[in-house]
Amino acid sequence: MFAAYHYGEIRTPVLEATALFARSVGEDTDIVMKEMYTFRDRDEESLTLRPEATASVVRAYIEHSLYNQGGIHKLYYIGPMFRRERPQKGRYRQFYQIGAEVLGSQSPLVDAEVLEMLVLFLERIGIREYQLLLNSVGCPKCRAEYLKGLREALQSVKGAMCGDCQRRADTNPLRVLDCKVEADQPIIEKLPKIIDQLDPECRQHFDRVTSELQARGLAYQVTPRLVRGLDYYTRTTFEITSGALGAQNAVVGGGRYDGLSEMLGGPPTPGIGFSIGQDRLILAVQAAAGLKSEAPLGAYVVWMGEAALPPAARLARELRAQGLSVEIDYDPMKIKKAMGVANKLQARFAIIIGEGELASGRYQLKDMGSGQQQEMEPGNIAAYLKAEL
Ligand code: HAM
Repeated sequence: MFAAYHYGEIRTPVLEATALFARSVGEDTDIVMKEMYTFRDRDEESLTLRPEATASVVRAYIEHSLYNQGGIHKLYYIGPMFRRERPQKGRYRQFYQIGAEVLGSQSPLVDAEVLEMLVLFLERIGIREYQLLLNSVGCPKCRAEYLKGLREALQSVKGAMCGDCQRRADTNPLRVLDCKVEADQPIIEKLPKIIDQLDPECRQHFDRVTSELQARGLAYQVTPRLVRGLDYYTRTTFEITSGALGAQNAVVGGGRYDGLSEMLGGPPTPGIGFSIGQDRLILAVQAAAGLKSEAPLGAYVVWMGEAALPPAARLARELRAQGLSVEIDYDPMKIKKAMGVANKLQARFAIIIGEGELASGRYQLKDMGSGQQQEMEPGNIAAYLKAEL
């Protein structure tokens, strides 16, 4: 998928200077305040296990002067991220993201193309039950106006809110909007919405994103509270949630970050990207397809008598060389026990080689689902299994 959309891979280190995340993700976010694994190395430098990779990609972009090459840069990454959250289903302290970043274009058509690629990917891997939530958080200019109003609105209600919100009402009022505390929700619903206060340029950008999504037949839901838990966003923000997942239902998060490069000391470079939570993606795919997590076993090779072991092992090797998933045990077993193992491993076929089969040169092939059994010459088994599996 990334190749089709012309993205190249970038690998950044798992460890970065702590300041990178403090400056980009934001000092007053849950990630930086509560969730980072931070320590001092032998030179007393403060390092952090990356909680996300967008900041690292932009850091690398600046450090290696990719902007000198001109044009736009489309980069993807797949790797582990670390956040010290309370572990539960779909939320881990080491988790994996598949992410992409496009650097160098402000065009709303890039936003639409990124979302188009994501939706195509989800559909291709069999996820149907999902929602694309969309918002705009404006630019620093219109956000400053909005924040003034939000601060004022919060003054009269913050007393009834949780401790974090009371603090954030003053330090970083936007973060109040992604508070998860149940009792705060009705209050948050009534707060002013940034989407109603975009300046003309941001409004136009957002309208173009939505009209491009409509032109592509992509369904979305404008969600004014979706400000995301990281401070670097400007304009478009989005999440994709899956009903199949329960409480931790965000499979994808992303958005535009037109000011991030400058924030990190680089040249003005607009950017947009997303990260898929790979662990949650797998849970959603399994839920959608009713799949088991293990790859299915094609065949289990059963042999009886020492003389049958060499041809059995040879057959297993030949089938595996053809890419078939095959298991064989090397310790002698009675046929009943061996068939029990084939059952337990949920093998699609059992291949049985005993004295009689060695004499006739034809092995028994048992379909473990239907119970039907047939004889087959060893040379024909691979092609037969390939057609059946
Ligand atoms: P994020 O929303 O913090 O965004 O994370 C993206 C996705 O990573 C989430 O939707 C979720 O699927 C997964 N995820 C986050 N935390 C955990 C966890 N503890 N356990 C399992 N999965 C988790 C970002 O990280 C931004 N860098 C996205 C982005 C890229 N924005 C622009 N470019």
